[in-house]
Amino acid sequence: MIRKIGILTSGGDSPGMNAAIVSVARCAAAHGIQLMGIKRGYNGLLGLSDNPMDDITALDIETILNIADMGGTFLRTARCTAFKEADVRREAVKHLRELGIDALVVIGGDGSFTGAMRLCELGMPCVGIPGTVDNDLGYTEMTLGFDTCVNVCVDAVRSIRATSRSHDRRGVVQVMGRYCGDVAMQTAMATGAEMVIVPEMEWSVEEISNRFQELSKQGNYRATCIISEHCWDNMKEIDTWRDYMHQYDPDIHEHSKINAERLASMIQHMSGCETRATVVGYTQRGALPTAKDSAFAFEAGHLAVQLLNRGITNQAIGIRHGRVFHMPIGDALMMKKHFDREMYELINHL
Ligand code: ADP
Ligand code: F6P
Repeated sequence: MIRKIGILTSGGDSPGMNAAIVSVARCAAAHGIQLMGIKRGYNGLLGLSDNPMDDITALDIETILNIADMGGTFLRTARCTAFKEADVRREAVKHLRELGIDALVVIGGDGSFTGAMRLCELGMPCVGIPGTVDNDLGYTEMTLGFDTCVNVCVDAVRSIRATSRSHDRRGVVQVMGRYCGDVAMQTAMATGAEMVIVPEMEWSVEEISNRFQELSKQGNYRATCIISEHCWDNMKEIDTWRDYMHQYDPDIHEHSKINAERLASMIQHMSGCETRATVVGYTQRGALPTAKDSAFAFEAGHLAVQLLNRGITNQAIGIRHGRVFHMPIGDALMMKKHFDREMYELINHL
């Protein structure tokens, strides 16, 4: 029987994490289960702070009801490299048992889920809610925060395209996503951007420059190229690019990577047409959750408590055919993410 559960957020924060914490708290309260908030991801399990209240504290339902529609995570989040060590995890489980915590809800991405799976192997029941803006988990149609992130990017690109149109300028816009191009793809589709570059597909500056020039010939002088971070890992002629750019920018050296600013600068040098760069950045991560993310958080939080209460553990919660579902974390992590190559070709060639 579950009497006390802990909850933590880990990895990058994502919109909807607070809503999920509130949902877990409401459901736990309804079942008479006490909820403990663990601060700063897995760091909070290591008992490192002088004051134990800085790491793990009882969550009062009245207090946390106020955070449901706020961005970020009330529990704080962090990355905790030490947690990859088995001894450290064993100590964490010991600490949780001393505090009387019977089970954990972990909100985070694939790294956080791996940590949760390892805790289950040590006998600490865990359920994972996929909190990340990246949408990089293959088992679920959507991760918590992705919808908000895309909406922020779409708003940003619409504004950028308005000013680009006014000045007949080209735009390069960089969005987040880690090694997954979903944020960039959805943003490009929703805004009518003429190009998208993602880490999943090899690309070259020459192709992008040619496409911009082709569009100019058709009378489009304000085309937009959305670039997903880490697309630089899949760039074809990285050496040629560095040699070329070194003429204009002495800071370019053999380990330099391209980014929105550098790509825009290179396109401008190659074509002679004004090209501006924008990085959407943390506005994507800190935004208020959309209705879709908030509703997912509500359902996922509720299901997490129900599963733990029924003794169903080591589960990842996701969305399939628009409905929440759960499956073993290990199986979820094994599922390969599908990349929509056809859509990618369509965006870049239409
Ligand atoms: P995300 O959860 O968003 O994928 P990270 O990959 O940065 O973010 O992982 C978040 C945290 O999860 C790490 O800082 C670490 O504490 C934990 N973690 C990641 N990989 C492992 C692992 N192999 N074993 C145990 N814990 C892990
Ligand atoms: O995983 C979420 C994410 O926002 C990624 O999109 C990005 O690569 C990373 O976190 C950035 O992390 P940080 O803010 O720690 O640099």
